[in-house]
Amino acid sequence: MSKVKFYYGNDVPLEMHKVRIVQKLNLLPVEERLKAMEEAGYNTFLLQNCDVFMDMLTDSGVNAMSDRQQAAMLEADDSYAGSATFTKLKNKIEEIFGKKYFLPAHQGRACENIISQVFVKPGSITPMNYHFTTTKSHIVLNGGTVEEIFYDEALKINSDHPFKGNVNIEKLRDLIETNGVDKIPFVRMEAGTNLIGGQPFSLQNMRDVRKVCDEYGIMLLLDASLLSDNLYFIKEREESCKDMSIREITREIADLSEVIYFSARKLGSARGGAICTSNKDVYMKMREYVTLYEGFLTYGGMSVREMEAIAVGLEETMDENMINQGPQFIAYMVEELQKRGVPVVTPPGGLGCHVNAMEFVDHIPQNEYPAGALAAAIYIISGVRGMERGTMSEQRDEDGTEILSNMELVRLAMPRRVFTLSQVKYAVDRVAWLYENRNLIGGLKFVEEPSVLRFFFGKLTTTSDWANELAAKFRADFGDSL
Ligand code: F0G
Repeated sequence: MSKVKFYYGNDVPLEMHKVRIVQKLNLLPVEERLKAMEEAGYNTFLLQNCDVFMDMLTDSGVNAMSDRQQAAMLEADDSYAGSATFTKLKNKIEEIFGKKYFLPAHQGRACENIISQVFVKPGSITPMNYHFTTTKSHIVLNGGTVEEIFYDEALKINSDHPFKGNVNIEKLRDLIETNGVDKIPFVRMEAGTNLIGGQPFSLQNMRDVRKVCDEYGIMLLLDASLLSDNLYFIKEREESCKDMSIREITREIADLSEVIYFSARKLGSARGGAICTSNKDVYMKMREYVTLYEGFLTYGGMSVREMEAIAVGLEETMDENMINQGPQFIAYMVEELQKRGVPVVTPPGGLGCHVNAMEFVDHIPQNEYPAGALAAAIYIISGVRGMERGTMSEQRDEDGTEILSNMELVRLAMPRRVFTLSQVKYAVDRVAWLYENRNLIGGLKFVEEPSVLRFFFGKLTTTSDWANELAAKFRADFGDSL
């Protein structure tokens, strides 16, 4: 994106790339979308991609790749041990993050598995700005607990706070004082905090967290999966960083972190995962887990072609005109929905546009999964696939009691450089129509409920005949149109 001024009309985000390979999309009639949703058990994870028009489920592994990434993939060195591709990626990670040691893994949660197995013990407490689903599951599996320490602003749906992902420094200090240093293996900061709407932390906040960590001798761990958005927001919103380059901001963030890990399905726009550190002891502790769970140390379960693409993707992340496309498209979508009265998370974050289901369908009780129901309804009336980020994404407690989520969001993810502005306009149009017809949306109940990460595979059904009524209203309003 470039800050290009339009002479007529309002400025809109302008793409600084052109499309050279395309994939045909299907837009099914509403009746067929309803059938597909029924078959998927009202769970957008279970839809077939051929039935989806705009796949806004996630940005994971579905960002557009550049011509340079594709070209690099042809040069991959396919050897089990000592691959030149590994060296290339290792060198790029060292150049960008300044970390000497690199451990490859097949994706982000594999890094979390290794880190949790090495550092989390029964009774461990892990403070963080906010949890991510897979992060929490690995920590809990190893007997630890997650303590989220954010400022009140983090959970305010509508705010003008530029850095809702900040760690609450006073709470961090209190937590350490109350529980003692020995119980805390690391403090985790998640860039572009996923579950509260892709909200960033500030560089100053990270400096402050590091100061506290240094005082107590605690390791600072960075989840850099959504770093590219966070970098853009620091550059854009943090006055004191205006004159820093993206590379300089990245380097300072990296210098403040003892261990960095990321899902390369997001950062680097390919598919894989990585852990890096300059601490040899820490590296040695984690190393054997790579060979045990992932693969040999020079590929860690990744295809060497993907590793080539990650090396180029990381370099491209240093280009502001590349990393600002996602946040600027998201800001456009958020602002257009706001104009039409649709409740969305503000300020616009990275990752995607987050619709506030708690308000959109405030007539649906939380134990009937308002965000899940809204995600299903959005698909039925548009073919746009979003993701539930609410109570369905939580896990019941040991007694089977439903844990109600702090937020009920539908995430409409914006995979980077994938959609055109007219497609985004289409999504806005349909969501706005749905908002005017929101009273037709009803609740959901489980018919098949897995005990772990139930949102991936669980099957649900509607609590009334609302889905049919919604599809009929769509047909009445749109006539023959899809
Ligand atoms: N950390 C963060 C902040 C993430 O967003 C994700 C994945 C992971 C770790 C795990 O990485 O998927 O490569 O194993 N987020 C995806 C999403 C699943 O759709 O938001 P992974």
